[in-house]
Amino acid sequence: MTHFQFKENQLYCEDTSVTEIVEEFGTPLYLYSRQQLIDNFRSIDRAFAGVDHTTCYALKANSNLELLKLLVSEGAGADAVSAGEIHLALKAGFHPSKITFAGVGKQDSEIEYALKHGIFSFNVESTEELAVINEIAGRMNTKARIALRINPDIDASTHPYISTGLKTNKFGIDIAIAVNTFKYAHALPNLHVDGIHTHIGSQILKLDPFVQTAEKVVDLVTELRKTGITIQHIDFGGGYGVTYKNAVKHPMLPVEEATEADEAPLNNAFIASVLPILKQAGCKIVIEPGRSIVANTGILITKVLYRKDNGVKKFVIVDAGMNDLIRPSLYQAYHQIVPLTLNDSILENVDVVGPVCETGDFFARERTLPFVQRGDLIAILTAGAYGFAFSSHYNARPALAEVLVNGDKVRVIRERETIEELR
Ligand code: LLP
Repeated sequence: MTHFQFKENQLYCEDTSVTEIVEEFGTPLYLYSRQQLIDNFRSIDRAFAGVDHTTCYALKANSNLELLKLLVSEGAGADAVSAGEIHLALKAGFHPSKITFAGVGKQDSEIEYALKHGIFSFNVESTEELAVINEIAGRMNTKARIALRINPDIDASTHPYISTGLKTNKFGIDIAIAVNTFKYAHALPNLHVDGIHTHIGSQILKLDPFVQTAEKVVDLVTELRKTGITIQHIDFGGGYGVTYKNAVKHPMLPVEEATEADEAPLNNAFIASVLPILKQAGCKIVIEPGRSIVANTGILITKVLYRKDNGVKKFVIVDAGMNDLIRPSLYQAYHQIVPLTLNDSILENVDVVGPVCETGDFFARERTLPFVQRGDLIAILTAGAYGFAFSSHYNARPALAEVLVNGDKVRVIRERETIEELR
């Protein structure tokens, strides 16, 4: 997390003290580092140097328009999963020829919208969807470029809710029947079969599942060529994991217990592990990373409201809730938490919880943290992916503000919603 560091005992984002930012913009607050976003994108995109490719950022991870615009200026494409995301991608300036459209449940109106805007490719998830896209494209007097999403039945060894490449998951077409499904698609008059798509899950920390998937995909390309179906592009999805523990280090912070299973390879190591295999197919390569581009770009800053000790547990009650960052509640996800100012305070074991009326409203349980009290500011780190994007209005809590740091400058990239604006 190179652009979030302690300088002496103060947390900084790039050249700006986070506490000073909070004094101006209040809490809870999402804060992003512009340089971290750019560095992350480049670390992935440049690993493909010399190969015909597009890095289609997965908007679902974070679709803030200003962050999207930065990625546009870096040459990114976009991976969208709804008409709403296609709309945002277009608004941010992504060229339609660099937009892919994924999802198991595309509505007819969304298919029409995507066709109208001439996106690069539909990543199709079922035989029935192929027929529907063919029918809609025919009605609109156009041809839809498609890739078929293959379910390779590979265990990505990640949380079951974000594992997508197993037969028991709803995603993709069983690889065992893939050739026949491709033949069916090829015969439909209003489809142009162009690619193979695969995405086996998210927050994947091992290289091996990617390697196995790449091998299966390349074999399939070869098999399809024998039947006269020419595959032009492989969309290899996203899923590269990030390291959540010990993102920021300081002698006054506890060292978080981490095993190999908590450490993500570098972004370019994910690419390096599959690129030689994928290259054999001689296709254009598309990838769809989300988390690896934005996760460590953002933090969620929250203020301590109260402390409570019931003799069994100590609770630190903060002003952000599960509606602002649902990952700990939903996936028992681990996010490092640090005070913005470090003192020589004692370490203690606490639950960090929000104000929402749910027992599942927590950011950390039984966590060793420096002592904090009412008024103190803490940061929940590595919160840029599936943070704001996955937030809700539960308990009629307004959407948070988002700010972007660029060196010693800060600007609001989403105004804080007011209670009057709630509907
Ligand atoms: N492509 C497809 C088709 C996807 O379904 C996803 C994520 C991505 C790309 C981007 O994956 P990434 O590179 O971000 O891992 N809310 C969960 C993660 C859900 C991922 C859904 N699909 C979390 O907070 O961990």
